[in-house]
Amino acid sequence: MSIESLFVFGAGQMGAGIAQVAAASDISVTLYDKFDLQLDKAKKSIEFSLAKHLEKGQIDKAKLDKTLSLVTFTASLPSAIKADLVIEAAVEDMEIKKEIFKTLSELVTPATILATNTSSLSITKIASVTKNPEQVIGMHFMNPVPLMALVEIIRGIQTSDSTFQAVADCTKKLGKTVVEAKKDFPGFIVNRILVPMINEAFFVLMEGIASPEDIDEAMKLGTNQPMGPLKLADLVGLDTCLFICEIFHKELGEDKYRPCPLLRKYVEAGWLGRKTKKGVYTY
Ligand code: CAA
Repeated sequence: MSIESLFVFGAGQMGAGIAQVAAASDISVTLYDKFDLQLDKAKKSIEFSLAKHLEKGQIDKAKLDKTLSLVTFTASLPSAIKADLVIEAAVEDMEIKKEIFKTLSELVTPATILATNTSSLSITKIASVTKNPEQVIGMHFMNPVPLMALVEIIRGIQTSDSTFQAVADCTKKLGKTVVEAKKDFPGFIVNRILVPMINEAFFVLMEGIASPEDIDEAMKLGTNQPMGPLKLADLVGLDTCLFICEIFHKELGEDKYRPCPLLRKYVEAGWLGRKTKKGVYTY
């Protein structure tokens, strides 16, 4: 099956980024959110990102206009019926995702593939509430979506080979490199490795071993990462990092995944990173 039309559920930072890369790859995309305000914010963020690409000479004005013209912003869910692939990018909450997938499953055609951009929740559990669990899959984009080359694709226990192949082909069409998580375990590949590293950076900070700047400089220059783990935590969102640590701790049941108390304290303070202008650093 070839994917020609896409519907993105949720116009947050990730949903907007996914819609942008789809449109930039000449795929017509509908970006849905129930809040008009969120749709406005998404439109502005896509315009800002495309303007950056234009400013850097990576695209011309005609490409910018064409990309924008391929995104339809809507607060109407029934338009999902026309899509070959629906990508859900809503909040990381299992009950909310189950509700969304149940609704989508009733709405779409039998051929439609339903993907979730979850960063750590069970694809298998989400698929279990749908009519065709073999057509449900994980499609995990990295933040910021327009700049990051990777998408990890995760098979739920019921995902069919043809669903996997169609989604892998579509991801390549989006200009992204695919890696496959063969098993649906919390955090898949990237977050299973990345989030414990970020959590450990908070322990190093809490124990007074080094300043935030030196922790980040150490990992940036010492291991050639583009940004240090604490700066990256601010980009990802401290609440998201904590949420993922909690899932690992609960689902994998090992003490090595316990969230750092300092990370928890920052989240309690509302210091969530760049999005609140204060995390480990102030913005
Ligand atoms: N579109 C277009 N341009 C963008 C952009 C976007 N969405 N976001 C940022 N930019 C621009 C910035 O505005 C900046 O522009 P100027 O040069 O005009 O100032 C430019 O990109 C470069 O930004 P920076 O100077 O901050 O720096 P950089 O060269 O370090 O590149 C980066 C930025 C690509 C984000 C790089 O730092 C990087 O790769 N960081 C690591 C990101 C990462 O690991 N992401 C994965 C997180 S894990 C995840 O997402 C999974 C999960 O579930 C938690």
